[in-house]
Amino acid sequence: MSLAATAVPDDEGERRMIPEAESFQYRGGQLFCEDVSVGDLAEQHGTPLYIYSAAHLRRQYRRLADALAEVAPCIHYAVKANTCGAVIRTLAAEGAGADVVSGGELFRARRAGIPAARVAFAGVGKTRDEIAFALREGIEYFTVESEPELERIADVAQALGARARVAIRVNPDVDPRTHVYTSTGRKESKFGVDLERARRAYECAAARPELEIAGIHMHLGSPLADEKPYAEALDKVAPLCAWLRERFPTCRTLDLGGGFGIPYKRRQKPFDLDAFAAAVIPRVKAIGLRLAIEPGRYIVGNAGILVARVQYVKDNAFRRFVIVDAAMNDLIRPPLYGAWHEIVPVRETAGEVVADVVGPVCESGDFLAQERKLPDVREGDLLAVMSAGAYGFAMASNYNSRGRAAEALVDGANAMLARVRESWEDLVAAER
Ligand SMILES: Cc1ncc(COP(=O)(O)O)c(C=O)c1O
Repeated sequence: MSLAATAVPDDEGERRMIPEAESFQYRGGQLFCEDVSVGDLAEQHGTPLYIYSAAHLRRQYRRLADALAEVAPCIHYAVKANTCGAVIRTLAAEGAGADVVSGGELFRARRAGIPAARVAFAGVGKTRDEIAFALREGIEYFTVESEPELERIADVAQALGARARVAIRVNPDVDPRTHVYTSTGRKESKFGVDLERARRAYECAAARPELEIAGIHMHLGSPLADEKPYAEALDKVAPLCAWLRERFPTCRTLDLGGGFGIPYKRRQKPFDLDAFAAAVIPRVKAIGLRLAIEPGRYIVGNAGILVARVQYVKDNAFRRFVIVDAAMNDLIRPPLYGAWHEIVPVRETAGEVVADVVGPVCESGDFLAQERKLPDVREGDLLAVMSAGAYGFAMASNYNSRGRAAEALVDGANAMLARVRESWEDLVAAER
């Protein structure tokens, strides 16, 4: 599914914002993040600029915790969605654990105050160094993607005189009905161990005294529109969970992964947490394991915007191009996934045009929106690309030798610069 295919017709001329993005509202014709003017922040720190709302991070975290309170889930924030230290610190203060997929993410999570005992380490290609680092830190568990990885973790643990807790990632072969690049729970994907082979993998783990079987893990894909794939996957893994509970008393956790969708459009409905809870809670109770989840996008997606300044407005015989100073290196989701991001003016602006919003990068794929209805913006105006908090800055690059954007975190009436814009010197700092 192309994310753009979930399109609902644009609401003509309507200024209503994305339903879940409550932290971003117009006041007196100016866009605000909580109580801070987006335009003022852009003047102060320049553009392109990512702005995140701390209130949104807390709200989304609590929405999840409240919806699932009956089974007291362990919430591991998926750091890959947004690696900004200020964001992770805000969630750590709420009590979040972390789902990490590299030594670098583990380093960031620990530095931002996430206790090691609340970290799950996922990913298909963990190196020996990464495993050793995680063992020395004392993480909660590894989610293990293959038998060779089990052996490697056991070998590293043996060399360190440590014991590693493991949860095997099973592949339940459920169609998450999302973009093919982000579907991970189908049997064709590189992720996890097939359900049919999972018992054998657990027996391999049990044969190594350096390993402790801590749980079972899955992640179906991202973003998922509703609870159905989760329910289907839980039904598929329930017999395996019963077998695990009977054989391995240390097996306590059922990690359901992340993937909870968010609205990217004005008329899209938020992920129905009540329906999700109604589907998941009874199944988890029947299985009898402690629930863990790994939300990324759900927490940070609508916490963030990317602010860009219009550099030129250019017309050719076919189209109008609004050329801004943010590009595919800042936000790759539109060209990579065909993803849709609402684009709104920072100062409410009259008129309406249809235009492509493009960046300065030398690729035809460098666009933020195509054939989009926009107000009649001019050179110097500011635009906000909405719902950019997840997989935005985290996927940014230096392509075309562009320094990565600055990031700011707003909390009520306070704003802090969380990361400075990369300079040209930064671009060459690692070269020898
Ligand atoms: C193993 C795992 N857990 C959690 C996530 C987070 O997904 P999302 O940001 O959609 O919640 C991902 C995303 O790729 C993942 O691979």
